[in-house]
Amino acid sequence: MRPDSFYAAVGGHETFVALVAKFYEGVATDPLLKPMYPEEDLGPAQDRLTAFLEQYWGGPTTYSQERGHPRLRMRHAPYKVNPAARDRWLAHMRTAVDSLDLAPLHRAELWDYLERAAHSMINTFDE
Ligand code: HEM
Repeated sequence: MRPDSFYAAVGGHETFVALVAKFYEGVATDPLLKPMYPEEDLGPAQDRLTAFLEQYWGGPTTYSQERGHPRLRMRHAPYKVNPAARDRWLAHMRTAVDSLDLAPLHRAELWDYLERAAHSMINTFDE
């Protein structure tokens, strides 16, 4: 872990675990998103997203050790990520980000990234 990383500055592992746990609480009750997840148990998906975000922000590189190169657009190709799905995804992330006690600049940086990443994941405009 890089000591000067965003990961360390916002509280490391605990913060990312809390963020993603809160996000998946929302996904679990979402009639559009929940059926997209291949496994009934969202636990493994939760672990993958946590590890990915930790790595992205300068934390441990467990994600790539276990999953290889992220290739996120490719990995989302099997799922219908249209603007409605993106909006649901972002709504749950907004709740999750707001549930953390982050400094305003950290919150803005995290949110800006998540919003751009979610826009870039769109792979269809079919309803
Ligand atoms: C925009 C709406 C999005 C939808 C509807 C969506 C949906 C999904 C679904 C259904 C999966 C499969 C669950 C699994 O097996 O892990 C998945 C995986 C994943 N998603 Fe998303 N996703 C979205 C955006 C994003 C964004 C913005 C990121 C990153 C910032 C992201 C990161 C990941 C990661 C890391 C995985 C696991 C990939 C793997 O290693 O297999 N997703 N997503």
